[in-house]
Amino acid sequence: GPPGPCVSRLSGRPASSECPPEPGRARPDVPPGWAHAGRMDPGQPVQLTFALRQRSTARLARLVQAVSDPRSPQYGQYLSLEQLRDLVQPSAATLMTVLKWLQAPRAGTCSAGPVVPVPVSHYCPILCWLSLTAERLLPGAEFHRYVQGQQSLVRSPLPYTVPAELAEHLDFVGGLHRFPTERKAVSRARKEPQLAPQLARASFHLGVTPAVLRQRYNMTGGDVGLLPNNSQACAQFLEQYFHQADLAEFMQLFGSGFAHRTQVDRVVGRQGHGKAGLEASLDVEYIMSTGANVSTWVFSNPGRHESQEPFLAWLVLLSNMSSVPWVHSVSYGDDEDSLSYAYMERVNTEFMKAAARGLTILFASGGAGQPCAHLHCPCLPSPYVTTVGGTSFKNPFLVTEEVTDYISGGGFSNVFPMPEYQAAAVGRFLRSASKLPPSSYYNSSGRAYPDLAALSDNYWVVTNRIPLPWVSGTSASTPVVAGMVALINDWRLQRGLPPLGFLNPALYQLQKQGLGDVIQGCHLSCLDGTVQGQGFCATPAWDPVTGWGTPNFPRLLRALGPR
Ligand SMILES: *[C@@H]1O[C@H](CO)[C@@H](O)[C@H](O)[C@H]1NC(C)=O
Ligand SMILES: *[C@@H]1O[C@H](CO)[C@@H](O)[C@H](O)[C@H]1NC(C)=O
Ligand SMILES: *[C@@H]1O[C@H](CO)[C@@H](O)[C@H](O)[C@H]1NC(C)=O
Ligand SMILES: *[C@@H]1O[C@H](CO)[C@@H](O)[C@H](O)[C@H]1NC(C)=O
Ligand SMILES: *[C@@H]1O[C@H](CO)[C@@H](O)[C@H](O)[C@H]1NC(C)=O
Repeated sequence: GPPGPCVSRLSGRPASSECPPEPGRARPDVPPGWAHAGRMDPGQPVQLTFALRQRSTARLARLVQAVSDPRSPQYGQYLSLEQLRDLVQPSAATLMTVLKWLQAPRAGTCSAGPVVPVPVSHYCPILCWLSLTAERLLPGAEFHRYVQGQQSLVRSPLPYTVPAELAEHLDFVGGLHRFPTERKAVSRARKEPQLAPQLARASFHLGVTPAVLRQRYNMTGGDVGLLPNNSQACAQFLEQYFHQADLAEFMQLFGSGFAHRTQVDRVVGRQGHGKAGLEASLDVEYIMSTGANVSTWVFSNPGRHESQEPFLAWLVLLSNMSSVPWVHSVSYGDDEDSLSYAYMERVNTEFMKAAARGLTILFASGGAGQPCAHLHCPCLPSPYVTTVGGTSFKNPFLVTEEVTDYISGGGFSNVFPMPEYQAAAVGRFLRSASKLPPSSYYNSSGRAYPDLAALSDNYWVVTNRIPLPWVSGTSASTPVVAGMVALINDWRLQRGLPPLGFLNPALYQLQKQGLGDVIQGCHLSCLDGTVQGQGFCATPAWDPVTGWGTPNFPRLLRALGPR
């Protein structure tokens, strides 16, 4: 008979081959702020993503290793989108089977027209506009509408099934269960400065600005992009918009001392007309402050339909464009606990594909205070992305040494195994750390994060034409590092060298060369009542709160530039 619901959690992979592709959680965790607005009318279109199984993923993994490791003879020999497509595109049998199933007539389903599958790219989620009750296509599913403010989503609170014969052809069906999550920059109050008179010298500051960052990371006025064809990007999700006018005002207020641009050159996706979001303003303003004078793109709320999951839609966009920026800053979080294994595996493969193309993808390592019982990742720490933690100035009002920002996300994935490139560094940390949280709180065989860090505390941001102080979060440190990577790419491209691509193998080989080690402070992480206050602590060399430390730009350029 037809397979029953096969619901699995983190460790629960489908138990047998009869299981259909993992359906994700049985119920969406309706996050705070979203309200149920009733069952959907049958016949209303629902956009779902069918992630078709790809070929040659093991070969892809070996290839990524070869093109990302500076010691490999193939270092920097990235694939074009077309070459990548030839390598991984699903077999003809997969495509045929799924299309046939989608287009098969079903009694009572085609009330508003036929199924129109739209293959968006080699990337292979096939994005389908299903002008029918997809409930009948995916037995078990039941579509309901959920709203938050102006936004509206369609999700199924129940698990779906697909016919057993499709199981080997589909990784998962997206857009059914998950709600988009979002990492928020947090604004937190500070005490008024109480400075000893002898400390009130030139480096005194009242919050992080481009000048403070450039001073701290030893960037000179000459450290700006020169090539018209180099570029960098931020990804925005949900209804997060930046405004060009905010950026212009920000640069007017804070942009002296370095050549910079005052316009985002390209917005991919839909940039709405709503109020600017703090997160979006922060990303754009700071990637353009370190990645100064580098052409900047924003991938904004991609997806052609409200019900599409924005994160998947972003991946689809990336994979459907043969020319995209080399560097991407992403401040988007996903709690591993809320995701299905199949989904995470597939997203990981997509990051591998980005690495094969030579793209650098940087993720915010997240923040503390997330409701979770374990020290694992609220940031989907694929081994194929670079994660950025957070620091603050030891003296919050002086450009001095940095310590761990207690909000910095860090720890171990409970899903992705530890990649080879970091095994030695993490092993050394685990052996030498003097105080570790109870071992039941983390899974030391997992991918450890973050990889490096930057200031994440007390930023100035202009949003809706108003300069706001005290903005904090690893969503600040991530674009800061991204901009620096874009500058190193600029330097390399000027010399005919390939861009840096997936950074981690090179980064871990540097052994903190080019980075200032952060050795003080602990983060709070997301601990429950048993372990109060403290997660991991910074140590000399790599640690799971600040990674290898924060960039010393000229040294990092010297270390990574000529590789
Ligand atoms: C992007 O998708 C469209 C179909 O929506 C397709 O025609 C086009 O070839 C794709 N581009 C790339 C570079 O894959
Ligand atoms: C800024 O970049 C442009 C190319 O996009 C280049 O022509 C210009 O010289 C750069 N400005 C500075 C001050 O280096
Ligand atoms: C970018 O411009 C440089 C210098 O003009 C050129 O050598 C390089 O091939 C260009 N790169 C791309 C990807 O177009
Ligand atoms: C620990 O992490 C590994 C991945 O590195 C995973 O396979 C394993 O299931 C995790 N252990 C537990 C107890 O969750
Ligand atoms: C910047 O350079 C100064 C002087 O060499 C050094 O003390 C400082 O640590 C550097 N900054 C970082 C982040 O390494």
